[in-house]
Amino acid sequence: DKYTQEINNFVKATADELEAFRIKFLGTKGIVKDLFEQFKTVGAEEKRTFGKVLNQFKQLAEAKYNELKEGAGTAAESGKTEADLTLPGDGFALGSRHPLSLVRNEIIDIFKRLGFVVAEGPEIEDDWHNFSALNFPEEHPARDMQDTFFIKKNHGQDDIALRTHTSSVQVRMMENGKPPFRAIMPGRVYRNEAISARAHCFFHQVEGLYVDENVSFADLKQTLFHFVQELYGEGTKVRFRPSYFPFTEPSAEMDISCTICKGDGCNMCKYSGWVEILGCGMVDPNVLENCGINSKKYTGFAFGMGIERITNLKYVIRDLRLFSENDVRFLKQFKTEI
Ligand code: PHE
Repeated sequence: DKYTQEINNFVKATADELEAFRIKFLGTKGIVKDLFEQFKTVGAEEKRTFGKVLNQFKQLAEAKYNELKEGAGTAAESGKTEADLTLPGDGFALGSRHPLSLVRNEIIDIFKRLGFVVAEGPEIEDDWHNFSALNFPEEHPARDMQDTFFIKKNHGQDDIALRTHTSSVQVRMMENGKPPFRAIMPGRVYRNEAISARAHCFFHQVEGLYVDENVSFADLKQTLFHFVQELYGEGTKVRFRPSYFPFTEPSAEMDISCTICKGDGCNMCKYSGWVEILGCGMVDPNVLENCGINSKKYTGFAFGMGIERITNLKYVIRDLRLFSENDVRFLKQFKTEI
């Protein structure tokens, strides 16, 4: 009985404990063997009952041993290194950076080398920072240039919207600091447009602002010229076309010689040899004054570009939707060192 209890209590064992169990109960000098020796000495009339109990006991000990051997076997193996260490390892899939992140970082790097810092701001903006401070007259159709997602609309000062451009960050920066300012503002912006290969309801921008004494249009042109040489390679040509933005005067749009056909004509540039990449201009004095900056003393230039567009021209991507579909067949083409 005592031994039966001991066997039943024995529920978990390491390989060594199990071996000790085997020797104790089932070994050549073990208890079972010993009991069988005693069995020979008992009287004939007791043999029947004793023999029955003894056989049950032996079966119990063997069953327990076999049961625990399975569990202990795996535990024992895990402690050893039996694997062939010369076999090749299992491969695992590495992710890749999103092309928009790659290009954004490249743009940031170029401007950082020119002394621009990175500024950020909220994606949910009030009317003042997205429109009014930027010289968009109230109820003026210029506000419709950018199809806005309004969160709260009262046709007035307290409208709340998803920012339509990161120019709002320029306003915040100028309001909260003192010139000179030299910063770029990367970020996501939202416009209420039907989704197609050429338009989306959100995209990413990098805008830039440089305000100091005596900043001129020549500074603007040279900065942006340098930027495209760095981004698209030496020899990329630029041209400026007059344009209109409420917050800059004069305003321009900048084209570069087509990055694909180098000006020979292809369907990326619609056989014109030129592609538009950004809007820019001299900061309107009204904007400076709205942000508490003396426009007699300071001048500045600003520019803004869509990262999607810049990326399309760099990698010949023709459908904007690819950027937000998370198709790994697309994404894994942008493997990089980091
Ligand atoms: N904010 C403009 C846009 O979103 C871009 C721009 C920025 C143009 C700065 C001129 C100067 O389209």
